Amino acid sequence: MAASAGFAGPKLENSMLRDSLPACSPSRAFAPPPPVVGLRKRAGRERRNGGGGVRCEVRTAREESKLMELSGVSALEQLKASALDRYTKERSSIVVIGLSVHTTPVEMREKLAIPEAEWPRAIEELCHLNHIEEAAVLSTCNRTEIYVVALSQHRGVKEVTEWMSKTSGIPVSELCQHRFLLYNNDAARHLFDVSAGLDSLVLGEGQILAQVRQVVKVGQGVVGFGRSISGLFKHAISVGKRVRTETNIASGAISVSSAAVELALTKIPESSHATARMLVVGAGKMGKLVIRHLVAKGCTKMVVINRSEERVAAIAEELRGVEIIYKPLTEMLSSAAEADVIFTCTASEAPLFLKEHVQNLPTVGQEVGSLRLFIDISVPRNVSPCVADARGAKVYNVDDLKEVVAANKEDRLQKAMEAQTIIAEETRQFEAWRDSLETVPTIKKLRAYAERIRIAELEKCLSKLGDDVPKKTKRVVDDLSRSIVNKLLHGPMQHLRCDGDDGRTLSETLENMHALNRIFSLDTDITLMEQKIKAKIEQSQK
Ligand SMILES: NC(=O)c1ccc[n+]([C@@H]2O[C@H](COP(=O)([O-])OP(=O)(O)OC[C@H]3O[C@@H](n4cnc5c(N)ncnc54)[C@H](OP(=O)(O)O)[C@@H]3O)[C@@H](O)[C@H]2O)c1
Repeated sequence: MAASAGFAGPKLENSMLRDSLPACSPSRAFAPPPPVVGLRKRAGRERRNGGGGVRCEVRTAREESKLMELSGVSALEQLKASALDRYTKERSSIVVIGLSVHTTPVEMREKLAIPEAEWPRAIEELCHLNHIEEAAVLSTCNRTEIYVVALSQHRGVKEVTEWMSKTSGIPVSELCQHRFLLYNNDAARHLFDVSAGLDSLVLGEGQILAQVRQVVKVGQGVVGFGRSISGLFKHAISVGKRVRTETNIASGAISVSSAAVELALTKIPESSHATARMLVVGAGKMGKLVIRHLVAKGCTKMVVINRSEERVAAIAEELRGVEIIYKPLTEMLSSAAEADVIFTCTASEAPLFLKEHVQNLPTVGQEVGSLRLFIDISVPRNVSPCVADARGAKVYNVDDLKEVVAANKEDRLQKAMEAQTIIAEETRQFEAWRDSLETVPTIKKLRAYAERIRIAELEKCLSKLGDDVPKKTKRVVDDLSRSIVNKLLHGPMQHLRCDGDDGRTLSETLENMHALNRIFSLDTDITLMEQKIKAKIEQSQK
């Protein structure tokens, strides 16, 4: 299925054009890895472009191959070494593979939707993929986005896309036509936009922030919801809050449910707004909001269907003065027969209304336009698409809300611009935080190295002083050794900090890190990345 113009948002369109090729193009997918030196240089460029490569010591290609030749390494081994080198020297990347309301129709999104109860299992499965270290799932009515930390961007994207294809039943080629890919800073900026409500169908709507919060809540304790990804989502929550408090993006913001009510009212004659018979199926968060908006529009009586009565009773308690009649799910069809407008908003994974149910319902009166309206804001949809073919019925789904929200485009642009300044600033802060994670192993190793020396020298000194040294003297000597070490380490530690506050660039910090690694021989251990790759390979070979 080709992405129709209606589903292609400009920002994502560009990123789709730019990024959709690698993982789907067979010629790219099986291309041999480029030589080591090229990759190292490219890593430096990627860093500047927000691509996430780590700056490394540069040797020319000729020098590199000469060294290999001298040590008697064959061309094949050189190639293998270059591939390994690519992994071990490349910094892992944050990648988002997403399909949203801007790129993908609801028919496809509903197949990709992952219920909240399955997020931990999805994270676990994703982290079992060879090149994925951490993962998170953001699945809402407007989007299914998989955020991962990938050991290799290209392979990570390929593996996640294949996983999405397997779980949804949608062929990879079709996913590639609709998905968007964003990396590192672009991925972070996108999530911040999402959390702030800038990427929502209904600009500034509040539910998305609650959904981002839910990702963090559900992710707590799930092994693959690791440090970088949880850091990213936690940061997104504070960005969402900040944008809403410091700009007027949320002022007068409508929500999906108010847009649904708005849409329904535009489809029936104004004279019937107060009298049309309203039925709401589902009394969760969305159902409650639909009911509230109906009341705000002057509706004083409605029937609400839900599996359990408690939620409906609580809403009725809150909205005293409005006649809210509860009916169980078993009475859904008989209630539909007596309704002119039906809102569906349940988390059911199977459709509740089928064509055969609807075509036998009595027709509705002329005063409401002679058509029974189904306004379905659920994803997966609660109203089967075939219902649209039933006589006397008209079906609208969540994508049809674009009609209502497109109206205030100018206002949207103005509000979005205010928020962008905050998001740019927050993206820089997140980048600095992530960069600072890079230097943590060096900081730890340097401290441990200094501590080993301090302890060894302290023991020597104390043994020279003999057994009858007073405790107080021992403590003074101990304090002296600590204070010398701390003072000596202060300078190097300062130069390893990269929190964006001191004007030091990341490349300077990384240079300092490499210099300290060399000077103190801290980098002689197998790198963390190598360990991770080896563990993954061993895991996949089992
Ligand atoms: N949250 C949002 O921002 C948002 C925005 C737009 C659209 N939506 C869509 O709206 C739908 C509802 O979302 P929500 O946030 O309101 O969820 P929610 O607060 O979790 O409420 C779920 C509702 O669905 C009912 N339900 C669950 N499973 C059902 C089943 N198998 N059969 C019949 N009813 C079932 C629940 O009934 P009980 O009370 O009996 O459990 C409850 O009324 C979802 O499809 C979602 O994708 C959500």
